Amino acid sequence: MTSRLTERATWKALEKHATAMRGAHLRQLFADDPKRGERLAVEAAGLYYDYAKQRVTDETLQALLALADACGLRAKIDAMFGGEKINATENRAVLHVALRAPKGASFVVDGEDVMPSVHEVLDAMSRFATSVRDGSFVGFSGKRIRNVVNVGIGGSDLGPVMAYRALRSYADRELTFRFVSNVDGTDFAEATRDLDPHETLFLIASKTFTTQETMTNAASARAWVLNALGDEAAIAKHFVAISTNAAEVAKFGIDTANMFGFWDWVGGRYSMTSAIGLSTMIAIGPERYREMLDGFHAMDEHYRTAPFEKNLPALMGLLAVWNQNFLGAQTIAVLPYDQYLERFPAYLQQLAMESNGKGVTRDGTSVSYETGPIYWGEPGTNGQHSFYQLIHQGTKLIPCDFVAFCRSHHTLPPHHDLLIANVLAQAEALAFGKTADEVRAEGTAEALVPHRVFEGNRPSATIFADELTPATLGALVALYEHSVFTQGAIFDVNPFDQWGVELGKALAKRIAPELTSQSELGHDSSTNTLIRRYRARR
Ligand code: F6P
Repeated sequence: MTSRLTERATWKALEKHATAMRGAHLRQLFADDPKRGERLAVEAAGLYYDYAKQRVTDETLQALLALADACGLRAKIDAMFGGEKINATENRAVLHVALRAPKGASFVVDGEDVMPSVHEVLDAMSRFATSVRDGSFVGFSGKRIRNVVNVGIGGSDLGPVMAYRALRSYADRELTFRFVSNVDGTDFAEATRDLDPHETLFLIASKTFTTQETMTNAASARAWVLNALGDEAAIAKHFVAISTNAAEVAKFGIDTANMFGFWDWVGGRYSMTSAIGLSTMIAIGPERYREMLDGFHAMDEHYRTAPFEKNLPALMGLLAVWNQNFLGAQTIAVLPYDQYLERFPAYLQQLAMESNGKGVTRDGTSVSYETGPIYWGEPGTNGQHSFYQLIHQGTKLIPCDFVAFCRSHHTLPPHHDLLIANVLAQAEALAFGKTADEVRAEGTAEALVPHRVFEGNRPSATIFADELTPATLGALVALYEHSVFTQGAIFDVNPFDQWGVELGKALAKRIAPELTSQSELGHDSSTNTLIRRYRARR
């Protein structure tokens, strides 16, 4: 079956236009329009987005906007904000935007306004976070809590760890934060080896409270605490659950009075502003946390209301579609020039790739075009001395998102100016390159000329904000959430399910008992041989 997207006139128009654009070079596009750098930029919620170095013309943008209209992007946004069950394969609404809306806002699911419950949980989180921060919440033996360990994986880990690292300069430095996610016991052992159980609080974060990795780590945490404190009653003072599943929380042995809830209309990878953000709130305090939520909300409102030609997430999403489907890119490199954002690319990987890594449309038809791009990246300038070579001179087209801030949290001249000089230089080098004539003019020996040529014409965008604050971080994450939504709307996939994680989970459940028994094996010959080898050597 052919899917409808590639049959659309707007898609075909883009294909035709892309053929014409193959000969266009960013050098020429800038020469033709001296104001291009000012024109192809948009600002929202404290983020300035320069997309002038993308390989687009006004015609490209018009064609992409026409595609967005043809794909019903506006109606799809309205359906999400309206609480419709757009996650049809799980029969769920998708309302992470409600989590950051202020008091007085209204979001309705199944005829019920969810906002009172959202703020009830936020208020409970605030009270709890404050009591940990001011020392009024103490451990079982009366000692102050000094360590907070978040145990979770995927969306129950990546948001919290990314946000903690990003906002460390706002965090209470008297408290130590650790994040345990991997079922590899090394993660738990290393995270707890120097901590005192009397002073340690575990946040068991799991939407389902059934995830194998998290439950295994939570059980180890329980044993670690009981081993030191010797009394079941200690659990209430050292464990908090963050989940949608009260029954499983109770079964695990955590009093549901120590539970912070959320709802099935919050997807795991969209949950960092739900109770899953408790570690962030304990770290930076409820007021700063509210500033972060306000940053998210400002971008949510911009996405919901701005016309698409000025709509930052919509443009970012459409440019991703353009680069993947019409210019042949496969990936997007996200390159934050800020060490505090070291885990931002990892966070985006789940957000983008678990959302749009899909091969069928919402009605189950196989797609005949590229869906979700691969997101990857590392902080600059480190990447410059590692993989940028391939981006500059390799055979693959890798669009880059640079993220940078005008002000640093540290006055350590000349570091910040050098950092910014580098990010600007990279975007410039990628776009404009260096011709053979320019290389020769530098006196380069002829044999070396081809090696020193930079073809240029490599697309990038730069997100420039004043400072990495809680609000800026919120706006930045919401920007990518909605860019991912935009891409999903064009691809006509459901960005909110993740059936692709199921098969591996089921097979691991089958294999686990086989590793420690001598049972007959019924896998393929490769898997059987590997299991036998493990059995013999474990
Ligand atoms: O296996 C994938 C996944 O379901 C993610 O979507 C989710 O973020 C992660 O596992 C963790 O799930 P939970 O919060 O239920 O433990």
